[in-house]
Amino acid sequence: MNILCIGDVVGKPGRKAIEALLAPFVKARGVDAVIANCENAAAGSGLTEPLFSKLRHHGVDAVTLGDHVYRKRDVYPLLEESDRVVRPANLPERAIGRPVSLLDVGGVKVAFFCLLGQIYMKQANSPFAAADAILGQLPPDVKVSVVDVHAEATSEKVALGHYLTGRASIVFGTHTHIATADECILGGHTAYITDVGMTGPYDSVLGRDKKAVVESMVTGMPFPFDVAERDARLSGLLVSVDPATGAAQSIERIQLRLPDEAGQSEVGHESA
Ligand SMILES: [Fe+2]
Ligand SMILES: [Fe+2]
Repeated sequence: MNILCIGDVVGKPGRKAIEALLAPFVKARGVDAVIANCENAAAGSGLTEPLFSKLRHHGVDAVTLGDHVYRKRDVYPLLEESDRVVRPANLPERAIGRPVSLLDVGGVKVAFFCLLGQIYMKQANSPFAAADAILGQLPPDVKVSVVDVHAEATSEKVALGHYLTGRASIVFGTHTHIATADECILGGHTAYITDVGMTGPYDSVLGRDKKAVVESMVTGMPFPFDVAERDARLSGLLVSVDPATGAAQSIERIQLRLPDEAGQSEVGHESA
């Protein structure tokens, strides 16, 4: 089966990229399941139920979140009710939302969950222990598992990749919004990338208005960081997984862009 993991969907440009680019790609490449980190979907921070419904409509099957999980309060009922959305698994047990869920993909059960890093991030429990607890409790017939490592430090993400080698089908990094070129299959089983990159406006600083961010860094003063607008791209990782064993068979980093925005961006690019 082919699983597409998508990195942080940022605001309206990110949603626009999903709307325009996802369905044709899914059809062309025979994608069976789409798992997207949507922690930045609502105006750059958080998620809402109406936006979740739109993303579902445009082909997102399951949603992971991150440090912005609770930014929009009206997401709480969605977190409680939907089995297609998970909150970070290594938050305190009583935090609202599911730490893990199962997605039915043509009769194959796919477990998915996300973990927060502990380095340069807000406080969270050990992502290693949380992954152990979840993977240790999966029913024996669940062979395929997808882990979103939402973390700042590359070292912590790589360490989690190695720690979960042979136990998870896919470990994909999110949160830094910049794709890394280290995609690989660890131990002949676990598809890994340190960060898939954001799905959002690339003529920006990590999705935010570049002028405001630069001005803030130059002056040391606070500025409102609105979501940027130009050069929306969809970034992700396409992995072929053997449903019988849960082992990844092939891995491909992808970045798709809206053709009509190509001439507007000041950001050079080589990607398709
Ligand atoms: Fe993010
Ligand atoms: Fe984040």
